[in-house]
Amino acid sequence: MTSATKSFTKQAAAKKNVTKIVARRAVLAMPEYHPPLAGRDALRLDFNENTLAASPKVIERLKQTTAEGLTKYPEREGVEKIAAAHFGLQPEQVVLTNGVDEAIHLLCAAFLEEEDEALIQTPTFFMYEVSAGMMTARVKKVQADTSLEFPYERFLAGMTPRTKLIMVASPNNPTGAVVSREHLLGICAAAPQAVVMVDEAYFHFFGETVMEDVERVPNLIVARTFSKAYGLANLRIGMLAGNAELMKYVRKVSSPYNVNGVALDCLPVALADDAYVQWYAEQVHAGRVRMMDGLRELGVDFFPSHANFVLLKIGAKHAELVTAMRAHGVLLRDRSADPGCDGYVRITIGVDEHVTRGLAALKASLTEIGWRPSEGLAVQTETDKGGREYE
Ligand SMILES: Cc1ncc(COP(=O)(O)O)c(C=O)c1O
Repeated sequence: MTSATKSFTKQAAAKKNVTKIVARRAVLAMPEYHPPLAGRDALRLDFNENTLAASPKVIERLKQTTAEGLTKYPEREGVEKIAAAHFGLQPEQVVLTNGVDEAIHLLCAAFLEEEDEALIQTPTFFMYEVSAGMMTARVKKVQADTSLEFPYERFLAGMTPRTKLIMVASPNNPTGAVVSREHLLGICAAAPQAVVMVDEAYFHFFGETVMEDVERVPNLIVARTFSKAYGLANLRIGMLAGNAELMKYVRKVSSPYNVNGVALDCLPVALADDAYVQWYAEQVHAGRVRMMDGLRELGVDFFPSHANFVLLKIGAKHAELVTAMRAHGVLLRDRSADPGCDGYVRITIGVDEHVTRGLAALKASLTEIGWRPSEGLAVQTETDKGGREYE
């Protein structure tokens, strides 16, 4: 058989290999998340990761991974004890997960019936909508107004007796806006029938937490990731902390080996190296101030951020800017498709040197695309749709 005939036969077989099976209605209806991951061989200011490296102590621990070690199924329990002790909690109050992505998925699987409502704000981290949409068609989204601050009053108004899961990121992605402790506890009190997950993925760049409130607020669950300040995004490890009864349900729906053993080996070392995380957070704090000063000089308007990124108002040339930056070896994330974010682009704040490179590339790229500050300011009026209630 010639190679042309072989290829034809394969195509014919593929055509025959059709199926009438379709996924659940909820799967057909849920949105898809396609992060633009291809070709990230550049300065990564697009995904809010640590831009440098994990703690050298973690790297040392990684080197101790043995061939025999890889043959074993991972054991999560011992490391959950260590993590719980680190946060002043009981082991029953903690579940380690395959990143916060999986934690969100587990919460939706554990708590959302088809007829229940999930409540989120928009814009926010897209995986809330993806995972909740897998369980229920009733995902209520409360749109922020043009300030992009958390719409507290309208959020409360969006609750109904059917609200079963509420997910709030503070600091929020992609805005960097935060929700006060008073408002987070207000949400918990207003919806005692709902699980309230506060996503503190960017905690280290803000400094405020509701972790201590987990002890006395029965419906509060706090999510933490080790993908950001700790620089372990590739190991996929995150954590949920909350009421032991709720954690029992989460444990029940999670696979027993959801977190790989290499990540489990590294986590205690990462948690113990507080000096490293503090150092990284300080780099980001200083870099954020420098970035915001630089943006002011360039005439780029932005949202004041409490996280390791800043959302810039670019206007019609948002995609052109992302392309120009890539040519300078710097990746940015175009957030224009997010609700209420038309014309917005997000830049990650990393270590000092990376902020310098990011700012230099930004300056050169804005000049190259012929961008003027008036284009960014025009964004405000174009997107001023006045905060829709929910969709
Ligand atoms: C608010 C928020 N939560 C969770 C995540 C994902 O965390 P992980 O890497 O632990 O899955 C992100 C990632 O960007 C995020 O922005």
